Amino acid sequence: MKSIVVANWKMNPVTMREAKQLFDATRKAAGASKNVILIVAPPTIFLRELRARYKGKHIAFAAQNVNAEGSGAYTGDTSILQAKEAGAEYVIVGHSEQRAKGETSESAGNVVAAALASGVTPVLCVGERERSHNGEHYSAVKEQLRAGFSHVEPGKVAKVLVGYEPVWAIGGEKSMSPRDMHEMAIFIRKTIVGLKGETGMNTKVLYGGATTESNALPMLQESGVQGFIVGHVSINAERFSILMSSLG
Ligand code: PGA
Repeated sequence: MKSIVVANWKMNPVTMREAKQLFDATRKAAGASKNVILIVAPPTIFLRELRARYKGKHIAFAAQNVNAEGSGAYTGDTSILQAKEAGAEYVIVGHSEQRAKGETSESAGNVVAAALASGVTPVLCVGERERSHNGEHYSAVKEQLRAGFSHVEPGKVAKVLVGYEPVWAIGGEKSMSPRDMHEMAIFIRKTIVGLKGETGMNTKVLYGGATTESNALPMLQESGVQGFIVGHVSINAERFSILMSSLG
């Protein structure tokens, strides 16, 4: 089975010209790794032009954040339908950087539902802010999953990708250990089974948080995840192409 890599560019780069250069390098990296489905998530303002530049089949596009409503009085927001029209087949939902600005698990759940209704694949991000010895991180993740999946019918559970991103790892160089991720992936699938039934067992889980060219492959091989959400390494063309080729 092919693995999935979401290149989450966040609020980078500054100019369209740089975005095109980064995209061209990213596209080369994607062409060389036949076992990876690459999903590029650029800033929304670059999405349409990058989409128009790409004719192949290896790359899909994602929006980084959308409003669940189709249109309306939401100054500064992008609607799910607008993102789709600009070329997004996926959308990142509930990223911790949006949650830190006030996005709730409930609103993430509404976006998941709106994405499914619009034929866009949601990548629901969950993850604790810190690890505690008494296992509170499990209850935090469980609550995010409960709210995130609250409007998902059992028949559509497999259409939601879950991105587990421990907030304490994001932006650094040291990811969580594959072993801890293995436990978390089992916990995530069990939780979804508890919420939605057996179909939850097949949920695809991506890992995000300090994924680099040196830790991606061991994580893929040892943890039971189906891929990654890659932040800062995805905007470094050289590092990202090594990461992609390590995954074959
Ligand atoms: P990072 O970011 O790879 O820079 O840790 C991942 C993310 O926030 O999606």
